[in-house]
Amino acid sequence: MQVEWQVASVSEWRAEALIFYVFENASEPLPGFKRWLQENGTWLTQSAALRDFRGKFKDAAVCYGPPEAPVTRLVLVGLGPEDKFDLDKLRGASAVGLRKCRELKLSAAGIPLSALAGLSCEAAPALAEVIIGGMLGLYRFDALKTRDLDPADYPERLLILSEDEPDEILRQVPPSAEAVVSGITLARDLTTAPANQVTPGFFVTTARELAETHGFRLQIIDMIMAQELGMRSFLAVAQGSQEPAAVIVLEHVPPGTEAEPPLVFVGKGITFDTGGISLKPADKMEMMKHDMAGAAAVLGAFDILGRTRIQRRVVGILPCTENMPGGKAFKPGDVIQSLANLTIEVISTDAEGRMILCDALAYAVTFQPAAIFDLATLTGACIVALGHQVAGVMGNREGLIEHIREIGLQVGERVWPLPLWDHYFESIRSDIADFKNVGDRSAGTIIGGIFLKQFVPDHIPWIHLDIAGTAWTDKDLLTAPKGATGFGVRIMVELARRWPDLRVD
Ligand code: BES
Ligand code: ZN
Ligand code: ZN
Repeated sequence: MQVEWQVASVSEWRAEALIFYVFENASEPLPGFKRWLQENGTWLTQSAALRDFRGKFKDAAVCYGPPEAPVTRLVLVGLGPEDKFDLDKLRGASAVGLRKCRELKLSAAGIPLSALAGLSCEAAPALAEVIIGGMLGLYRFDALKTRDLDPADYPERLLILSEDEPDEILRQVPPSAEAVVSGITLARDLTTAPANQVTPGFFVTTARELAETHGFRLQIIDMIMAQELGMRSFLAVAQGSQEPAAVIVLEHVPPGTEAEPPLVFVGKGITFDTGGISLKPADKMEMMKHDMAGAAAVLGAFDILGRTRIQRRVVGILPCTENMPGGKAFKPGDVIQSLANLTIEVISTDAEGRMILCDALAYAVTFQPAAIFDLATLTGACIVALGHQVAGVMGNREGLIEHIREIGLQVGERVWPLPLWDHYFESIRSDIADFKNVGDRSAGTIIGGIFLKQFVPDHIPWIHLDIAGTAWTDKDLLTAPKGATGFGVRIMVELARRWPDLRVD
């Protein structure tokens, strides 16, 4: 969908439908809608349709005007009660409105900028969230369908209607919102596509394309190089698979930022997790194609960094491999010496995420980073603890964790902190190595975090996001239809945008 401005007086606005937002049981309409009603919509003021629409969140109503009216369709979308309004509601309402336009097979939907007046947020961020939420709600993955395809992608155009020439800040909004949508779409597409297509090699190709498009530095650590570097823990996971594994290192270095300590984003890239020799049950195993959602989110975030030219040095590290039970696979009981030289006793080969991440984190440390942010579909326990709409956040700086919680709320990626107190380490103590790769059955998500913490020196701020529950949704959500969500992309982009103002020591 293309986003365009239409600058004209209200009576000259032309779209197949106009979308206006309505608070639940409001005493009067929002100011922009009220004016439109007074000047152009007397037909609607007289209609019972307007009175009957209560503005309940997720509700939408289509009102049809007389044939001579310049705009003959009005889509009213409920925002819910005014005192419960936030950007999440606005994103959701935008998705509801545009889905309604798709249902009607309209090719041009119009959102008046004035429809956002009277909301408790500035026009520019409101418009950004309307575009992002609306477009994300229309996402679908049909690349692999050869029949029963939906026809054209309605609506093809989203018109932002304004009476006045938008200022520079507003002008910037659509391209940067579209960049966000494109990054999240990339992450969703990679995560949804099956594991016979999205192999580690496919990640390499995608990273190469991104690097060429945006001018990123790119280093591919193949298995031979990984061996030379000493990434034995990463290779232990990779050795059971026939697919060549790789650690992808992308670097966004805008001119003038070469000397900056970078932010490093690390994403788990297990393109398929069978569990290895500690084989997973067959039921729902197909879901494990999405065990690379962390790496996909990092690529999505890089796409946005490149498109919006964020002036910050950022490194992305993506350890990519399958976890397979081949004849050469690593086994429970094996002891592996990681890149950081720490020795790990493998108890479960299904706790492979931490085995590849620990080498990626140790490699991240060599960049002397300003901070490291990793995200991984690491533990099923995170789903038990927080469900499918909240990710677990852990780390070694409480202030930074709090900032990320706030950013997450603003961008619609909710995260909640879990503690990494020292006593949790007791459960991964090993008799023969520095530690084991799993604990007992308790506090599974925290144990994952405690394991990773061993690989980041305390002087480097570090955040770990467990996205096992949030990377995929089995239910249609307003801004994320059933399937991959692209969770984490926006948090990373906001971190890059706001750093170093966020810095918390
Ligand atoms: N990839 C899984 C975690 C996962 C589960 C992600 C469900 C998304 C949805 C991970 O590699 C894994 O298998 N973790 C184990 C850890 C255990 C062996 C300590 C788990 O959660 O059971
Ligand atoms: Zn696993
Ligand atoms: Zn896994």
